Amino acid sequence: MFFSNKPHYAIVNDTVEASKEFKKDGLVNAVLRSVLRDKDNIQFGKFIYPSFKKIVDKVFSSNSIREYIYQTLFEKPINYQVSIKDQKDALYKKRVFLLEKKIKSNCFVQDIGNFEIIRSTISFYHDKDILDICAAPGGKSILLQSFGFKVYAIDKSQNQINKFYENLRRLKLKVNIKKIDFLKEKFLDKFNSILLDAPCSALGTFKRNPDVTKKVELAQIKKHQKTQIEILEKSLKILKKNGFLVYVVCSFHPFETIDVIDKISQKHNNIKIHNIDSEKMIKRKNGYFINPLKFKNFGGSDIFFVSVLEKK
Ligand SMILES: C[S@@+](CC[C@H](N)C(=O)[O-])C[C@H]1O[C@@H](n2cnc3c(N)ncnc32)[C@H](O)[C@@H]1O
Repeated sequence: MFFSNKPHYAIVNDTVEASKEFKKDGLVNAVLRSVLRDKDNIQFGKFIYPSFKKIVDKVFSSNSIREYIYQTLFEKPINYQVSIKDQKDALYKKRVFLLEKKIKSNCFVQDIGNFEIIRSTISFYHDKDILDICAAPGGKSILLQSFGFKVYAIDKSQNQINKFYENLRRLKLKVNIKKIDFLKEKFLDKFNSILLDAPCSALGTFKRNPDVTKKVELAQIKKHQKTQIEILEKSLKILKKNGFLVYVVCSFHPFETIDVIDKISQKHNNIKIHNIDSEKMIKRKNGYFINPLKFKNFGGSDIFFVSVLEKK
C-alpha cells in the first residue's frame, strides 16, 4: 500500500477478495482500513530480510552500492515516463521524464534503468528486424521501435498482451504482436537480432515491489533458471550465424544472471559475449548489472542484468 502505484482502494479490494478463500475477508478489510486511516502516523522498521541481504552482499562488492541499495529499500520509488521521441526538456538522454501526476501524451511509464539497458545495446543489432521473445506489456518493444527497429513481439500471456495493446492504443503506435508460447512453437524463420527479456524473480525491482525481498527462495529461483535456460537455448537455435541476442532479466541473483550465461557458454562453444559501452553499468562475468548509484541523482533505478551474445 505504501510503495505500490496502485490506488489504495484497489489494493484493499483485491486483498479482501483474495482473503475470501480463507474466510478472513472481514478481518482483512477491517485491518487494512484501519491502516489506511492511520497511514500518516505509521513508522516503518528498517528491517532487511536476511536472504535478500545475502544476495546483495554476494553480488555487489562495493560498500557504497550496497549501502545505497539498503537505503533506497525504505524510500518511496521515483517513477519515470519515457518519451517515444527526443524532447529537449527531458531529464535523461533527451527521452526520460519524471512521472508526476499525469502521463504525457507521447510517453509511457518505464524504469530509467530499463531505458539504459535498451539504449546501450541497440548498436549490436545489425538487422533492423528484431524478434522480442518475452515482449509484453511492451516496454522494450516500444523503445526499440522508437529507436527505428521493426519489432516482431511474442508473449504467451493474453493478460500481458492486453496491457501491451492498451499502451499502443494510447501512443497511437502499431507493433506486430502474436500470442505464442515460445517453448511450444515451431519456428521456420531465423533471425539476426533477438531480444530475450526473460521471466525472472524480479529481485531487481525491490524499490517498487518490496515484497520480493521477503524471502528469496532457492527452489523458486532454480525454477526460473530452468525456464531462462530453456528459452535461451531455443532462442539460439533460431538466431542466425553472426546474429546477436540480448539477454535481460530484472534480477541480480547470480543463478538468473551470471550462471545462466555460464551454463549456456559451457554447452555452446560458438557463443561470444560482448562488452557494452555504458558508464551506468557494472561489468561482471558474462554481462553487466545496472549500477543504481549512477542513477542517484534520479532517485535510483531498478537493477537489471544484461548480456550480449553473438552466435559465431
Ligand atoms: C519480464 S516480462 C517481459 C517484459 C517486457 N519485455 C517489457 O519490457 O515490457 C516476461 C514476459 O515473459 C512472458 N513469457 C514467459 N514465458 C514465456 C514463453 N514460454 N513464451 C512467451 N512468453 C513468455 C511472460 O508472459 C511475461 O510477459
